Amino acid sequence: MKKKILIMGIETSCDETAVSIIEDNGRKPPKILANIISSQVEVHKKFGGVVPELAARSHLEKIEMITKKALKISKIKLKDLDAISATAGPGLIVCLSVGFNFAKALCIALKKPLIAVNHLEGHALSPMFEKNLDYPYLLLLISGGHTQFLIVKGLGKYKRIGTTIDDALGEAFDKTAKMLGFGFPGGPKIEKYSKKGNPNKFNLPKPIINKGGCNLSFAGLKTAVLRSKILLKTKKDKYDLAASFQATVLKIIYKKTKIAIRDFRKVAKSKSLVVAGGVAANKEIRKIINKLCNEENFNPFFPAEKLCSDNAAMIAMAGLKKFKKKKFDKLNFSIRPRWPLDENAKFLKGSGVKL
Ligand code: KG4
Ligand code: ZN
Repeated sequence: MKKKILIMGIETSCDETAVSIIEDNGRKPPKILANIISSQVEVHKKFGGVVPELAARSHLEKIEMITKKALKISKIKLKDLDAISATAGPGLIVCLSVGFNFAKALCIALKKPLIAVNHLEGHALSPMFEKNLDYPYLLLLISGGHTQFLIVKGLGKYKRIGTTIDDALGEAFDKTAKMLGFGFPGGPKIEKYSKKGNPNKFNLPKPIINKGGCNLSFAGLKTAVLRSKILLKTKKDKYDLAASFQATVLKIIYKKTKIAIRDFRKVAKSKSLVVAGGVAANKEIRKIINKLCNEENFNPFFPAEKLCSDNAAMIAMAGLKKFKKKKFDKLNFSIRPRWPLDENAKFLKGSGVKL
């Protein structure tokens, strides 16, 4: 194998069209040559959430232009690439099809290997641009669609030890922001306005805080925000509710991560905790994780802030790791709108769930 490896990553699972090119030349960590992200926030803003058909159309319109831009910035020719990796799931079926079929077409035309990437594995490996981590490590994945604790045993080897039984954390941030009229996407807005509010003003519930191990629940918290809305009279009240929501989330994350660390310790000697996904960009969450890790003698790892939310560099990273293990995919690989990292994990959602 030649020394320098060049991998393209393509991401279109939801509302970001993204293409990245990364280079690995034995130096650690790999270098990001280009990381182009075209956000569709403006397209979906007026609907308060992502509209799949509009998202897919926007991916179609932009994918070629963004790919050309990534090649230009990185000064790489298509023929120089060693492999093309693209998100094949989980995500919106119409959106995944755009990026993954585009990758397939490139691979056929260029006779390059195709690598199908699990978007969540991309998040899981995203801190590896900072530092190459040894397996196993504990992962707290907090994004718009997922909230899980997983033991990362190796590439493609995951054991879920905890999950949300209802809403994902990012979803709770987005819905709270929407109820408060802060707009979409809500996470960064809640973080911003929380700074102006009193976190102790509203006493909000922490569902399943004392049961269910490191499983989590956010639906009751969201409903409590909705109920508290009638008490809001001034702008300051809104900031207080945002701050109280975020403070409650911090308490839940602190307690549940503490339990996850204890559970992880029973089966592994490692002291590494990775926190990844869009919500990992939240500075207050980073602070509380740092505090907990300090108390537990654990080492926290976060991706760079710009690599927390959806991007193609993390997809290229997963592609690179698979390339090194010669894990290529056939050109008839079908996208997987549902693709859990731990295929054996029990479905734990909805009322009547036994924890
Ligand atoms: O990982 P991501 O970009 O997309 C998914 O794979 O879901 O995560 C997006 C989620 C959104 O819900 C967004 O509101 C949330 O991450 N988010 C944040 C922050 N930045 C993004 N949540 C809280 N605080 C933030 N600063
Ligand atoms: Zn994501």
